[in-house]
Amino acid sequence: MTPSARLAAAIEILDIYLDAPTARLEPILGGWSRQNRYAGSKDRAAIADRVYDCVRRRRSYAALFGETGRGLTLASLAEEGLALVDVKALFSGEKYAPNPLRAEEEAGFSADIPATKPIDWPDWLWPALQRSVADPEAEAKAIARRASADLRVNTLKASIEQAQADLAADGVSTQLTPVSPLGLRLATPRKIRGLQAFRNGLVEPQDAASQAVALLGAAAVRDRAAPRVIDYCAGGGGKTLALAAALQGRGDLLAYDVAPQRMADIPERARRAGARIQIAGERDDLRGEENRCDLVLVDAPCSGSGAWARHADEKWRLTQSRLNALRQAQRDALREAAGYVCAGGLLLYATCSVLACENHDQADWFLGEKTKFRPEPLAQHWAAAGIKASAPDGNTARFTPARHGVDGFFLALFRCIG
Ligand SMILES: C[S@@+](CC[C@H](N)C(=O)[O-])C[C@H]1O[C@@H](n2cnc3c(N)ncnc32)[C@H](O)[C@@H]1O
Repeated sequence: MTPSARLAAAIEILDIYLDAPTARLEPILGGWSRQNRYAGSKDRAAIADRVYDCVRRRRSYAALFGETGRGLTLASLAEEGLALVDVKALFSGEKYAPNPLRAEEEAGFSADIPATKPIDWPDWLWPALQRSVADPEAEAKAIARRASADLRVNTLKASIEQAQADLAADGVSTQLTPVSPLGLRLATPRKIRGLQAFRNGLVEPQDAASQAVALLGAAAVRDRAAPRVIDYCAGGGGKTLALAAALQGRGDLLAYDVAPQRMADIPERARRAGARIQIAGERDDLRGEENRCDLVLVDAPCSGSGAWARHADEKWRLTQSRLNALRQAQRDALREAAGYVCAGGLLLYATCSVLACENHDQADWFLGEKTKFRPEPLAQHWAAAGIKASAPDGNTARFTPARHGVDGFFLALFRCIG
């Protein structure tokens, strides 16, 4: 496809998306690809990148050229610094190209981009962000930028140096990530499924902050020879696999999720990684684990606001009632999971949210509700986990996109006293 045809496709997809205000972007992109099979993989990737950029910056872009597929696309070109003459060449109106610029669009290109633009964050959620982070504007801006692509080196199979060398041999250049001592950041985001290093289980895609959560959990039970661990909200198994590697085969690791279909890929991922993970397909499979586990991880369902750079559509889909339901689900998961922790054992709560109402507030609620649990100071476990960020004072920690250059994550550690 020509560059012009890619722009026309982005406009078409964005118009479909904007027509259905609560739509998910992925199925719309998938539907477009199925109906336009001439588009090759590079075309699809370029179109998707532009569409996601536009959705991430939907409000500020709409303020420049209007909230239409064409308006958002033009704004993305203006932000890239394209000259009017180049935009006119792309919007030629010829076969497959978008229609020529109108007079007011041309004028928009000639004008300076305003220094202050609307913040790319839902209005109704702004007060919640303000009370959650030190610099809400910087965090909202960081969340409106493209996310980095991080890999976790699987220490069951390779050292970070070996994995980096393997990737380099495949022409993939990486640098070390912030926060996680096992993270490699791709210099240029790309699909990694075809790479030897992935196929041989040396690396897994995982944001560096997510890696740090698992490393912290494993470090917190380093004094147990054979720890019994449950990943209670295992989902696709990202943290389960990271825990398995960090535990280096010690003890027993069980994965459970209330929606077991989400765990469908874990056995194959574990096989590739050389990890030993037991799957609890239903809650009954955890019978006998009550008051028995050294560590239970609750990677709770949440708004995902810390990862909205990856899931830009979710930023605009979240509603107050959905957030309320998520907060209830977090409490339910915490309450249930607490029942599996042994006396002296630990419960690790994590979210990929930057909102205090899903983070500190829930940690406080848990301590009020479950009087058998006490805050467990993180500092010494932090050092043992090798996390590359200053150690927190108390039992909670968070990573934010603007401050740490990773997805926003929160974690809180509690010890069961009996
Ligand atoms: C943030 S996702 C987990 C992501 C996963 N840990 C990873 O690293 O890839 C949250 C998961 O919690 C699950 N969940 C929600 N409520 C739950 C509950 N009460 N018990 C167990 N799992 C629950 C959801 O089905 C969802 O898969």
